[in-house]
Amino acid sequence: MEYSFPHYLLSKQSVDDRALNGVVLDSLKANLPAAPIRIIEVGAGIGTMLTRLLRWELVAKANYILVDEMAQNIESAREWIPLWAVEAGLSVERIEQDQLRVFDQACDVQIHFQCADVFDFIKKNSVPADLLIAHAFLDLLPMPESMPKLLALTKHLAWLTVNFDGVTSLEPTIDTALDEQIERLYHATMDSRSTGGDSRAGRHLFSHLRKAGAEILSAGASDWVVHAVNGKYPADEAYFLNFILHFFEESLTGHAELDAGAFANWLRERRAQIERGELVYIAHQMDFLAKV
Ligand SMILES: C[S@@+](CC[C@H](N)C(=O)[O-])C[C@H]1O[C@@H](n2cnc3c(N)ncnc32)[C@H](O)[C@@H]1O
Repeated sequence: MEYSFPHYLLSKQSVDDRALNGVVLDSLKANLPAAPIRIIEVGAGIGTMLTRLLRWELVAKANYILVDEMAQNIESAREWIPLWAVEAGLSVERIEQDQLRVFDQACDVQIHFQCADVFDFIKKNSVPADLLIAHAFLDLLPMPESMPKLLALTKHLAWLTVNFDGVTSLEPTIDTALDEQIERLYHATMDSRSTGGDSRAGRHLFSHLRKAGAEILSAGASDWVVHAVNGKYPADEAYFLNFILHFFEESLTGHAELDAGAFANWLRERRAQIERGELVYIAHQMDFLAKV
C-alpha cells in the first residue's frame, strides 16, 4: 500500500463528519458573527474543514486563511479545493498562486494558502480572525505555552476540534497484554515528541484555555468510531484504518520495550482484520468552542 498523507486526510473526512460534536457545532452556529467573516485555520492540511463548512452551509461569505507547514499539503489543497468546488457546482477563480475564490449566488469565499509554521505565521499576521479553527492539530503542539500565541490569532471565537484524549481502542482483541502495551507505548510517543504533543490534550485544554483568558462556551466528545457495515467500511475508511496502523508502525518499530516479532505479527493480524471488515477502531477526542 502506498502511504500518502494528503490521501489520509481525504480518507479522514467521513470519520470526522461523524465525530464532530453537534452541541459544540450548534454553539458555533449561534455565535458566528455576521458575514463576511475572517477565518484562520491552523494546521489545516489540505482544506477539508473549509469544504466541510461549505457543504454544511455554516460559512457563506468569508475570507479563509489556510495555514499548514507541509508543502505537500498546501500543494494538494491548491489542486483539490478547486476540483471539489467545481464538483459541488461552485465557480472558481484563481486570483494568484496562493489565492482562490469559490463562489455562487449564495456563497463567496476568498481562500488564501499559507505554507508556514504556525508560530512564524502568528508573528507576521496583523489582522486577527473572527474565528480561529484548529482541527486535529492542538494535540501536536507544546502546551500550555502555545495557547496564548494561538488565541492572538482571533478577536472573537476559537473552534478547537478533534483533540486526542488518551483512549485508543482496537477490537477484536488480539492479545490483551500486547494490545495494552502497544496502546500505552503509542500514547507515550505522543508525549515525548521534540516538537510537543499531549496524549491527553482534550481534557487538558480546559485549563489551558482558562489560563490563557478564554471563556469556554461549549465542549464535548468527538470520538472517531470506525467499523464496517455489512462487511464493508464506508467511503475510504479502510484506507484511513490502514494509515492509523501505519502511524503505529512508524512510531513503535524498533522500540526497546517491544518484541519486534510480536509487533510485526500484531500489525499483520490488525491489517487482516481490516481486510475481513472486522476491525473496530475508537479514538476518544474532544471539541471546544471558546471565546477570547
Ligand atoms: C493531523 S493533521 C490534521 C490536518 C487537518 N486539520 C485535517 O484534519 O485534515 C495535522 C496538520 O498539522 C500540520 N502541522 C503540524 N505542525 C505544524 C506547525 N508547527 N505549523 C503548521 N502546521 C503544522 C501538519 O502538516 C498536518 O497537516
